[in-house]
Amino acid sequence: MTTILGISGSLRKASFNTGLLRAAAGMMPEGATLEFGSIEGVPLYNGDDEAANGTPEAVARLRAQLEAADGLLLSTPEYNNGIPGVFKNAIDWMASGKGADAFKGKPVAVIGASPMAFGTVLAQDAWWPVLRTLGTRPWYEGRLMVGKAREKFDETGELKDADTQERLASFVEGFVAAI
Ligand code: FNR
Repeated sequence: MTTILGISGSLRKASFNTGLLRAAAGMMPEGATLEFGSIEGVPLYNGDDEAANGTPEAVARLRAQLEAADGLLLSTPEYNNGIPGVFKNAIDWMASGKGADAFKGKPVAVIGASPMAFGTVLAQDAWWPVLRTLGTRPWYEGRLMVGKAREKFDETGELKDADTQERLASFVEGFVAAI
């Protein structure tokens, strides 16, 4: 079984990016599964707190999920043409100290959704230097920018758009095949 850890960079209940991951989980090819990793409860990184108290539970859980996974799929929102702070903070926490080892050589792909036309292209591009620094194995063959998300998801964050569903299915199939 191929296990992909999917992490959404949004804390919003009806998040488009979390909805995109849920949709991906429902269309995984046979022999593959997508497990959700949540950034909920990850505190702001503070080296003093880490030295005094060690790794917070929410971070330890994400690290364990990453270690056990065969690949990593980030579903990123875009804030001010970049990576949302809460998402970068969670990955920084995960990669702190020995945590960085779990990223090394791990196949990774990035997708994202936003209500604007360009659908997170700049946030996705901003992730690559970070993921390169962590020593991941980037999967560049597929690209999935979901723009105009309000027309494609319902008010609870479920992906309804058939064309996007098709593109997402082809994306996850390609990523799983590459792994
Ligand atoms: C945004 N949003 C946004 N969208 C975009 O495509 N490009 C951008 O630069 C920004 N900038 C931005 C800044 C801030 C502070 C916020 C709060 C929002 C809109 C953003 O894409 C939208 O809120 C999405 O719904 C966020 O993703 P989730 O929470 O739906 O997954």
